[in-house]
Amino acid sequence: MGNTAARRVLEPCMTSIAIIGAGAGLGAAVARKFGSEGYSVGLISRNQARVDALAATLVADGVQAAGFAADVRDPASISAALEQVTETLGPIEVLQYSPLPQKDFMRPVLETTPADLVGPVEFSIYGPVAAVHQVVPGMRFLGENKGTILFVNGGSAVKPGRDVTGTSVAFAGQAAYAELLNEVLGEEGIQVSQLIIGGAIVEGDEDKDPAVLADHLWDLHTKRDRFRLQISED
Ligand SMILES: NC(=O)c1ccc[n+]([C@@H]2O[C@H](COP(=O)([O-])OP(=O)(O)OC[C@H]3O[C@@H](n4cnc5c(N)ncnc54)[C@H](OP(=O)(O)O)[C@@H]3O)[C@@H](O)[C@H]2O)c1
Repeated sequence: MGNTAARRVLEPCMTSIAIIGAGAGLGAAVARKFGSEGYSVGLISRNQARVDALAATLVADGVQAAGFAADVRDPASISAALEQVTETLGPIEVLQYSPLPQKDFMRPVLETTPADLVGPVEFSIYGPVAAVHQVVPGMRFLGENKGTILFVNGGSAVKPGRDVTGTSVAFAGQAAYAELLNEVLGEEGIQVSQLIIGGAIVEGDEDKDPAVLADHLWDLHTKRDRFRLQISED
């Protein structure tokens, strides 16, 4: 795991954003936004080649970036990847948790068995808890009003959908966890926020283009004035 080329050349002199679930859509847009604001960018997904390719495009634009392979359903791999981000790119000031859920998590409610909920719960609850435990000590070290944890979810996090049971149930758990973190970590100056995107992310859309959503995430980090922002009620 880890990008050895990047590790050799980058100086860990700036703070970083770690994006868990960094693909070509929202992940890439957030990477560009925070990269343009001076953050180094750690890109985490299961596929090393894809995050390496995304990192290469960012590096070509002058952003310090590197890719790391980890599966959010394997908490140890997430902890290890986040440790590598810190070592390679500098202390993690911002954590974004936004992997795209698997399609098979989304089944009708009466067809959903206990076994069907294992994946969604690992993905949306155990993964975030592992990530938060890994980054909070370093965020505390950065001092007050610096660290931020951003969660991104679909609309089923706040309005369960009868045909998307796994994400509805597990996103609700994640939303509760995030809100508790907002309350408790807020007391020590670490911002925790959640962006809810109703319906689909749509390139070119004035409200739901990835770059527009990335700007909202930037505002949640810099303004530090709210827990939840919901885009579209769909
Ligand atoms: N796309 C939409 O229409 C939509 C709508 C509403 C909300 N959202 C939210 O937006 C975020 C995703 O944005 P996006 O759809 O534009 O995706 P994206 O940033 O283009 O890509 C997300 C990445 O998540 C990674 N991923 C999936 N499962 C993973 C796992 N088990 N462990 C680690 N990484 C994993 C995938 O890479 P690998 O395959 O390499 O792991 C994928 O490239 C999510 O928070 C999602 O809930 C999306």
